[in-house]
Amino acid sequence: MSKAAKVVAVLKVDDLTERQARAEHKRLGDEIRHHDTLYHDKDAPEISDADYDRLRQRLKAIEARFPQLVDLLSPTQQVAPAPSTAFAKVRHARPMLSLDNAFTDEELQGFFDRLRRALERETDLKPDAEIALSCEAKIDGLSISLRYKDGEFVQGATRGDGTTGEDVTANLRTIKDIPHKLKGRGVPKAFDVRGEVYMERKAFVALNARQVAAGEKAYVNPRNTAAGSLRQLDPAITAARPLRFFAYAWGEAEPRSWKTHSEYLKLLKEWGFRTNPLTRLCRTPAEVRAFYRKIGEERPSLPYDIDGVVYKVDRIDWQERLGFVSRAPRWAIAHKFPAEQARTRLNGINIQVGRTGALTPVAELEPVNVGGVVVARATLHNADEIERLDVRVGDMVLIQRAGDVIPQVLGYVPEERPKKTEKFHFPAKCPCPLRTPVKAEEGGVVRRCSGGLECPFQQVERLRYFVSRNCFDIEGLGGTHIENFFNDGLLKIPGDIFRLPRRVDEIKKREGWGDLSVRNLVASIEARRTIALDRFINALGIPLIGEATAKILAQEYGDADGWLAEMLAAARERKKHPDDVKKEKAAAEVGPSYGRLCNVEQIGVTTADAMCAFFSEGHNVEIIKDLRKQLTVEPVKRRVIASDAPLKDKIVVFTGELSIMTRDAAKARAEELGAKVTDSVSKKTSLVVVGENAGSKARKAAELGVQTLTEEEWVELSRA
Ligand code: IVH
Repeated sequence: MSKAAKVVAVLKVDDLTERQARAEHKRLGDEIRHHDTLYHDKDAPEISDADYDRLRQRLKAIEARFPQLVDLLSPTQQVAPAPSTAFAKVRHARPMLSLDNAFTDEELQGFFDRLRRALERETDLKPDAEIALSCEAKIDGLSISLRYKDGEFVQGATRGDGTTGEDVTANLRTIKDIPHKLKGRGVPKAFDVRGEVYMERKAFVALNARQVAAGEKAYVNPRNTAAGSLRQLDPAITAARPLRFFAYAWGEAEPRSWKTHSEYLKLLKEWGFRTNPLTRLCRTPAEVRAFYRKIGEERPSLPYDIDGVVYKVDRIDWQERLGFVSRAPRWAIAHKFPAEQARTRLNGINIQVGRTGALTPVAELEPVNVGGVVVARATLHNADEIERLDVRVGDMVLIQRAGDVIPQVLGYVPEERPKKTEKFHFPAKCPCPLRTPVKAEEGGVVRRCSGGLECPFQQVERLRYFVSRNCFDIEGLGGTHIENFFNDGLLKIPGDIFRLPRRVDEIKKREGWGDLSVRNLVASIEARRTIALDRFINALGIPLIGEATAKILAQEYGDADGWLAEMLAAARERKKHPDDVKKEKAAAEVGPSYGRLCNVEQIGVTTADAMCAFFSEGHNVEIIKDLRKQLTVEPVKRRVIASDAPLKDKIVVFTGELSIMTRDAAKARAEELGAKVTDSVSKKTSLVVVGENAGSKARKAAELGVQTLTEEEWVELSRA
């Protein structure tokens, strides 16, 4: 508990301000829920019944004085315990790495050559001897790690950043392909089984139809759907989704009895797992290529999506010799298939309005099966792209679906162009009810609706953005719900979202809403009343400020009040000095707040000006004020370095591409361990972590004799 919270916890209810009461109400709710779980689910209460009752009485007293704090989530309103609202983090016993890709035959040959060279050099492999490879279909799902202790399933986690994933054990238990207890002999005592959770194409189509009917956003593809289904807060929802699982790898395995990968796959089956039938041990490159072609031919008729074939050196002692380079093993590669394509008729071109008013043309297609998934719409990006492709309504067009990318139109088939077609003319008026003129952006390809803040289409899109995953991440409030709530006046501005819990009766009366879905919605809204500063900034949808810039701003300004005061000051300064300015002179010529903003890493004058324009708009300021009344925006945690921090006083530089962790996560971890992270290498640098494709900094480190680590070594070290 923070110092302030401790003070509030001892104050009499009658002496609390509303702000304090809100915080204390939340704390008590959390504490009571915690004890409920201990008592009901774990049979292990930590406090006496009398102490528990005191917590509930205090909560009730607060609610009697501040009735506005009562919501459906409050323990006073609960019969059954509320669903858990977030997943706990799980650190993988061994990192979950990814695979290098080969797209062309040359790239594949390169892999074969590298393998042979390394194995001849590092093992007793003779020049003409075979290197057996286990070849397996690459399932397009999401990888997970299942922890077994003495043969018993105890925990399951998503890959996350490779080092830490999310604990989705309860949801994984609902998947029937995942055994709860392993049968047969030789199961390692401590064992992580890794594999792919996926959804079959048929199930995806059926689920998506239901999803859309219920007003939720349609999923893009089966993989996306599987991921969404696994991240449900309510395991009952996951259970209703037909997820499947193939096992293909391991993390920790102590003791390990198998010597080859193919032996391991056999054992997995004996122990009760499903392994993919499209697997073969190939001994020569020719066999490997033939297998790849065969799988490619079967691909369209498979019940699930695959995006390539994975080749793995079969002998594990050789795998160990080959080891890892940065993010991926040297002993394996994913040989990818090209994106799936199809032809269909272009029935029309519609214009979609984005949250900043940008207009995007969308191709309305005769529905067509592209590699197992029906596609009816595809993006045409912008007016220039239509011009370049010269596609016209009525054309037969070629479309492509690749991974979770929105389907794209590649071009038209000239022989099949109908006689009378017309070139597409971008409309001069926005399709929104205001029918405002369309503006072409200066120098850019984008066209915009000129309705600005008044445009209802843009308002809806801004609300959608606000609740999206990298912003407030409010589950159960899909795009169609937002649109319907907006049209009926339940939602106009972001702050209205946090007033929805007080309007549950109205929501319950609406079609498609029941007790459970309303409760889940309230739970996900309440869970976001406390939000990190970077998410808060990102959610405001300020032009040019995305997730990455929001993080940088949060780091720079530290807390919401400080940031807001500075942005308002910068906007005022800029209004008084609207002339062209260079960022180096911004502080002197415009003002201190504007100068500071321009000089924040990755910002500069253009982005600073977009920020000032946003903050000069009274409406935007009102929206923020309204939100601030309902939210707790968490300040960025300032670092306090313990005297025994392992990297205290060390100066660390990261260079090249990292892929097990993101650069931000790696930096944050280094800082947690007490290091100072800088960008340039000098004699003072203690450690350089060298990722892939690193350039001059890695060379300089070598010249200066500064210690370097690979990303794997860094991961190992930082776990210590
Ligand atoms: S092996 C250390 N085998 O592909 C290597 N991965 O692009 C571990 N995948 O994250 C991966 N099918 O999600 C392996 N038969 C298969 C696979 C497979 C699908 C996925 C997995 C991995 C990704 C890498």
